[in-house]
Amino acid sequence: MERFVEIEKCSFDVEDSNLLRPNRWSDYVGQEQTKKNLQVFIAAAKKRGEPLDHMLFFGPPGLGKTTLAHIISEEMAANIKVSAAPTIEKAGDLAAILSNLSHGDILFIDEIHRLSPTIEEILYPAMEDFRLDIIIGSGPAAQTIKIDLAHFTLIGATTKAGMISKPLRERFGITFRLDFYTESELMLIVIKAAERLQMHCEHEAARAIAKRSRGTPRVALRLLRRIRDFAEVADEKHISLAQTQYALGELGVSESGFDSLDHKYLRTLCTNNRPMGLSALAAAMSEDEGTIEDVIEPYLFANGYIERTAKGRIATNKAHALFLDGGALL
Ligand SMILES: Nc1ncnc2c1ncn2[C@@H]1O[C@H](COP(=O)(O)OP(=O)(O)OP(=O)(O)O)[C@@H](O)[C@H]1O
Ligand SMILES: [Mg+2]
Repeated sequence: MERFVEIEKCSFDVEDSNLLRPNRWSDYVGQEQTKKNLQVFIAAAKKRGEPLDHMLFFGPPGLGKTTLAHIISEEMAANIKVSAAPTIEKAGDLAAILSNLSHGDILFIDEIHRLSPTIEEILYPAMEDFRLDIIIGSGPAAQTIKIDLAHFTLIGATTKAGMISKPLRERFGITFRLDFYTESELMLIVIKAAERLQMHCEHEAARAIAKRSRGTPRVALRLLRRIRDFAEVADEKHISLAQTQYALGELGVSESGFDSLDHKYLRTLCTNNRPMGLSALAAAMSEDEGTIEDVIEPYLFANGYIERTAKGRIATNKAHALFLDGGALL
């Protein structure tokens, strides 16, 4: 099933994504504190003529971690090499990536919590001393060869800060946590994106989209693209509130932006009426724990629909009210 409010990347996100991805600070809306600090660190590094410190971004999917890494590389006028932890399987894979970096290059590793312990061991001296220790042979005849690396900047991104090993986390000089976006920030993102798609988006239409985007730019942009399809078919030059409401209805996106997975989650918790642990929820919903923890729960926690207790998750009054109303949830 296509999940229109799915916050993780889907195949249909590829279209327009380069067009809609901000590549300057002025287009990157929100995350003000992170932006301000990054601007200082970038200015300082440029002034000293040195590469940036290694940095780690964490936060739920679709909040702009990859986008930030690209903006930083533009600002530093540095090359960026993009990689994802699951593709770095062997020591040689990482050694090849690292030894190909030049001074000032940025290495972006997505899902960095998924690096295996042996790969992490190679990364430590590379991050600290820009050195690669390669062991050749085994047993008493084993030899370590040290290779000097260029001074590079590692940018790690993860949706699971808790799963990064402590030694790896400590080797990052700077850590940023991205937060969900406010309604007005999402409205601005939608309006700017519509402009890039050469459409005008009414203020109230942008608000309707923002409300249903679960605090996540990726969802807002996806909804905008689908609504634009409806507008184009209707031969409209701009995105109106009426058109938006009609399209959202057709797409089956509810007022709160909840989709079937969220409904299922809240229904399970509300009808159960007692605290439930992660594994109990996963079993009751036939979903895997990772999806529940990383994709469904962060937004529900951040917006007060669920709470954590010593005995497990509970639905708050806010969630029960939705459920009883019947409208949004059933
Ligand atoms: N602050 C922002 N302003 C405008 N657009 C944004 C912003 N943050 C993210 N976006 C847009 O939202 C989409 C998702 O952003 P991005 O891919 O950077 O998220 P992510 O945090 O890397 O997600 P994941 O954890 O799934 O890799 C992109 O299309 C990007 O253009
Ligand atoms: Mg990303």
